Amino acid sequence: MAVTFNEEDKLFILHTNHTTYQIKIGPFQTLLHLYYGKKVDCNLDYLMQTMDRSHCGNPNEAGTDRTFSMDTQLQEYSTFGMGDYRISCLEVLNKDGSCAADLRYKSHNIKISKYQLEHLPSVYAGDSVTTQTLIITCIDSVTNLEVDLYYGVVEEYDVITRAVKIRNMGMKPIELIKAFSTCLEFPSTHFDLIHFYGKHAMEREFERTPVGHAKLSVESMRGLSSHQHNPFVILADQAATETSGECYGVSFLYSGNFQAQVEVDQIGQTRFAMGIHPAFFRYEVKPGEEFVTPEAAMSYSSEGLQKLSHNFHKLIRNNVCSGKFKDIRRPVLINNWEATYFDFNTEKLVQIAKAAGQLGIEMLVMDDGWFGTRKDDYSGLGDWVVNTKKLGTTLKELTDQVNAAGLKFGIWFEPEMVNEDSDLYRKHPDWCLQIPGRPVTRCRYQLVLDLTRGDVRNYIYDSISAILTSARVEYIKWDFNRSIAEVWSALKEKTHQGQVFHDYILGLYEILDRLTTDFPEVLFEGCSSGGGRFDTGMLSFMPQIWCSDNTDAIDRLKIQYGTSFGYPISAVGSHVSAVPNHQTGRTTPLSTRGVVAMAGTFGYELDINRLTEAEKEEIKEQVKIYKRNYDLINTGDYYRLTNPYETIGYTAWQFVSSDKTRSLLSVVYHQSHGNPDFHTLLLRGLKEGSIYRVTGTVQNNNGTVQNDNETVQNNKGAVQNDNETAQNNKEPIQNDKTAIQEYNGAALMNAGFVLPTPWGDYQSFQYELTMCLE
Ligand code: GLA
Repeated sequence: MAVTFNEEDKLFILHTNHTTYQIKIGPFQTLLHLYYGKKVDCNLDYLMQTMDRSHCGNPNEAGTDRTFSMDTQLQEYSTFGMGDYRISCLEVLNKDGSCAADLRYKSHNIKISKYQLEHLPSVYAGDSVTTQTLIITCIDSVTNLEVDLYYGVVEEYDVITRAVKIRNMGMKPIELIKAFSTCLEFPSTHFDLIHFYGKHAMEREFERTPVGHAKLSVESMRGLSSHQHNPFVILADQAATETSGECYGVSFLYSGNFQAQVEVDQIGQTRFAMGIHPAFFRYEVKPGEEFVTPEAAMSYSSEGLQKLSHNFHKLIRNNVCSGKFKDIRRPVLINNWEATYFDFNTEKLVQIAKAAGQLGIEMLVMDDGWFGTRKDDYSGLGDWVVNTKKLGTTLKELTDQVNAAGLKFGIWFEPEMVNEDSDLYRKHPDWCLQIPGRPVTRCRYQLVLDLTRGDVRNYIYDSISAILTSARVEYIKWDFNRSIAEVWSALKEKTHQGQVFHDYILGLYEILDRLTTDFPEVLFEGCSSGGGRFDTGMLSFMPQIWCSDNTDAIDRLKIQYGTSFGYPISAVGSHVSAVPNHQTGRTTPLSTRGVVAMAGTFGYELDINRLTEAEKEEIKEQVKIYKRNYDLINTGDYYRLTNPYETIGYTAWQFVSSDKTRSLLSVVYHQSHGNPDFHTLLLRGLKEGSIYRVTGTVQNNNGTVQNDNETVQNNKGAVQNDNETAQNNKEPIQNDKTAIQEYNGAALMNAGFVLPTPWGDYQSFQYELTMCLE
């Protein structure tokens, strides 16, 4: 049993394959946290400590005993107002104006299988994993507020999820002003907070900050999970690395405002908590009603960050993403945005589709500009009617022509937005979020529709379903290109405006649920000015999200590195675009752009008709490599072999199949240097005693790419030499001419793989490894 209750010791024990979580019903029915970490198969309540400490209050029942204080105990769900002054999870405004809640254990329930949340995304059970649920009910006996603490255990992935239901069993309404989803307590302080900050076109950069006595907060108040911070964070032992050390990851299954807070308290204990951001959050819960928090999924690894990422990758891929596209190969697509921007018509699109089809590309996505009066980003959002004048055809005619070229057809929407210059806004000015009497804040010249309203949600659903049923549309890119400001809904009373931020996200999830249920054959891809809403909440409705508007291969090394900590490669929308790159002006080889985009859902974002024949041939080869390695990339274990922030001069990563028989190694050099260093790279995840045949694409010293799957360059120390082929640099770089094709797994992992020397900036190398002798 993954969840047990020890009646005698009043102890809840949660086990996953490698972790243990223990909760104790403490003095006066308080709910105390004992332990979360590596698996331990015994009672740990000896860890609970008490001491008389000045200025730390004691529960009323303690009488003259001053040793037990909520200000110093490790707790499962901290509350404000009863003498705990650290980060609180729950803040309740009572009818009498007081702000206090005092939660004590009331009852519990253990259930087979993982719970599901209504109206909110949650990890689901599925066939391949063993799951269980623990619900602990606590009560504030003065107001009769009941709080159900939900714990879901997913044994195989070492995941414990948490969510909270807050039920008003009293006679008077209460208001929630903070209702977090999870709390983690540690008896010591030795952590770094790893989080992923960013901005538009540079999302999810890695930052590692020591946790100390000053409170740290990672958060969004923008109405979306945001480019600036991501709702996935890690608490890592200060000594933890990719391959060693303890770390805890928390992924919040929510796409709106969030906050993750961490602090070390006065006696050196660490508290972490996460949930909906309390800024302008006021949620009324009337007698008999309940409020449900979003879910947080937590995992622990004693083997470093790599294992932690593997746990989240599997969880999200298998038990968060849903629908048919999570398991089948998704099409290699070409998107016209960077090829044409707003300047396109059916003829142009079909030309791109025809050229793309010949290279093995499988879907054309028509981006922004096909509807209403949209000719730039000043008008048209909200009017989801095909602009047949601009296209020169109907949508049906366009999709027929694209299909005739052998490609599927996809389309862009930004359903949550409206331009003031649109028929929709002229007709329904009250449908957007804005404060009466206050001028609106524009962002990209657009306003945000009020998704808390049923009529608005129906309009969005109807507009999209009309397009989906009018032509063969097999993909939707769901965009969201601004932060929310002026949070005020015309249909809500003034006392309920504090619900708008959260109800907006519930409204969004309702629409996505309806559409994905009614159109199961349509593949959805999330987007928010690139990766501004890249979170596990969105991934429960759509298996992939456009990772960043920045398609520059070198910047992407950092963006995709950061993204990989909490999110699977199968979720990372990544395309090859033209050079000089439209965001950075940098020119990188096509081969490198291909290698980088292959660490994602892979596609193109350029006009193929402007490429040379040689470039087209190269693309054809890239598409073949991607398709051949699709399973490996999308379901294999992902290894970050180097860190792009380090100064070694290159970034390398590796995919390994679960049976270890196949691997794909990718290496991108940042810049080339005179008299270059040798580089030997330690691979990971292979089988020690086995022999691997290595094939790959290498580059000659002219900087042109040789696509030869039978060649490998200049590697020594291998098990077996083979005369077959080798690509050698002549002038000016002299490389060893020995071609080696087979290596011992232990040698590759412990002695290393010798990398070729790059000639020119931003060169890349890609190798396919196949076990040939077990
Ligand atoms: C956003 C997206 C882009 C593109 C444009 C269209 O910026 O991230 O990929 O779709 O909108 O306006």
